[in-house]
Amino acid sequence: MTRRTLRIALLGQGFMGRAHSNAFLQVEHFFDVPFDLELRVLCGRDPERLARMAATWGWQETATDWRRVVERPDIDLVDVALPNALHAEAAIAAARAGKIVLCEKPLALNAAESARMAEAARGVPTMVWFNYRRVPAVAFAHRLIEQGRLGRIYHYRAVYLQQWAMREDLPATWKLTRKQAGSGVVADLASHLIDLALWLNGPIREVAAMTHTFAVGRDVEDAGLFLARFENGSLGSFEATRFATGCRNRNAFEIHGSRGMLAFNLEDMNRLRFLDASDPEDVQGARDLLVTGPGHPYAEHFWKPGHIVGYEHTFIAALADFLVALSRGERFRPDFEDGHRVQVVLDAVERSAASGQWVRIPAG
Ligand SMILES: NC(=O)c1ccc[n+]([C@@H]2O[C@H](COP(=O)([O-])OP(=O)(O)OC[C@H]3O[C@@H](n4cnc5c(N)ncnc54)[C@H](O)[C@@H]3O)[C@@H](O)[C@H]2O)c1
Repeated sequence: MTRRTLRIALLGQGFMGRAHSNAFLQVEHFFDVPFDLELRVLCGRDPERLARMAATWGWQETATDWRRVVERPDIDLVDVALPNALHAEAAIAAARAGKIVLCEKPLALNAAESARMAEAARGVPTMVWFNYRRVPAVAFAHRLIEQGRLGRIYHYRAVYLQQWAMREDLPATWKLTRKQAGSGVVADLASHLIDLALWLNGPIREVAAMTHTFAVGRDVEDAGLFLARFENGSLGSFEATRFATGCRNRNAFEIHGSRGMLAFNLEDMNRLRFLDASDPEDVQGARDLLVTGPGHPYAEHFWKPGHIVGYEHTFIAALADFLVALSRGERFRPDFEDGHRVQVVLDAVERSAASGQWVRIPAG
C-alpha cells in the first residue's frame, strides 16, 4: 500500500495535548494505517513547557501563535485541543486553509458557532474527539443494539459524575469560566453523554433541564440534570455533576429494552453488563462480559483476550478509525456535523434550565 505522510500541528499542550500526542505516536503500532504521521509542530503558550513536552513526545518544533501555525503550507492536519472558546476560530481558520481538522469536544461554545464550524469544514475531513464511542465495551453495546438484542428501547439512563470542583476556593481556570468554556459541567461532561446517547439510541426530540451551582460566586453550573424524549419513543434521564463525592470519573449508562438490558461504567471500562430477557426467567441475570475479545471491537488490534485496555486506547482507536476512513475517502463519525448535533441538544438543555420549560429540538 502506498503510504502518504501527514504533517501534524497540535494546538494545545495540556491534558488532551498529551492524550493526542500519545495516539499519534501509538496508532501505527496497533493498526495498519496507510499514513506516516509526522509530529511537526506543537503549539501552546509557555515556551519552556513546550520545549519539555516536545522533547518528551517527539514534536519537531514548537510555536506560540496558533494563527500562523494553521496557515503553514507544510501542515496537512490541524488538531485543536485548546480551551473551548478557541475551538471555532482555530478550526475554521484551519478548514479555510484546506487542512484536515480534528477538534476536541464540545465542538463549540454554542450551536450557532458549531453550525459555522460545520459549514466552514464541509470540504475537509473532520473528527470530533468523542473518544468514548471507541471504548471496546461501548462499541460492543452499539453492536448489540444494532443487532436488535435489546429489542425496543424503553429507558436510557446516563450519568457522568466527578468530584474535582467541590472545593469552593478553586482558582477560576478556563473550565470554571463561562466565557472560555461555554458552560460548566453541561458543556464538559453532558456533551459526552449526549454524543453517546445520540449514537446508541438515536435523535432526541425534547428536553426538560435544571442546572445548579453549589460553589458560591462560581461562574458556571456545577451540576446539570435533564429528562429527554427520544425519537424512538424511549425516555431518557441524564445527570452530570462535578459534586459527586466518591466518583472520580464515572461515565455510565443503563439501557432497558423489550429484549434485554445493557449497563456500562467507565470506571470498569473493560466490562459490559448484558441481560438477555429471552433466557428462562429462573436463570435470568446480567452477564458481566469482559469485552477484550475474542470477537469484540478492537480486540484484534490490542492485547490477547482478557488483557485489558485503558483510557489511552480510546484515543488510539478513534484516530485509527479516522485514518482508515480518510484513506478510503469515507465519512468518519463523529465529525463536525455530529459535533454540531450534540451542541444543538446542549443549547436546548441550557434554554430549558433557564426557562423551566420543555424545549423541543429541531430535527437534524
Ligand atoms: N475527550 C475527552 O475526554 C476530553 C478530556 C478533557 C478535556 N477535553 C477537551 O479538550 C480541550 C482541552 O482541554 P484540556 O483538559 O487539555 O485543557 P488544558 O487546560 O489541560 O490544556 C489547554 C491547553 O491549551 C493551551 N492554550 C490556551 N490558550 C492558548 C492559546 N491562545 N494559544 C495556544 N495555546 C493555548 C494551554 O497552554 C494548554 O496547553 C477542551 O476542549 C476540553 O473540553 C476532552
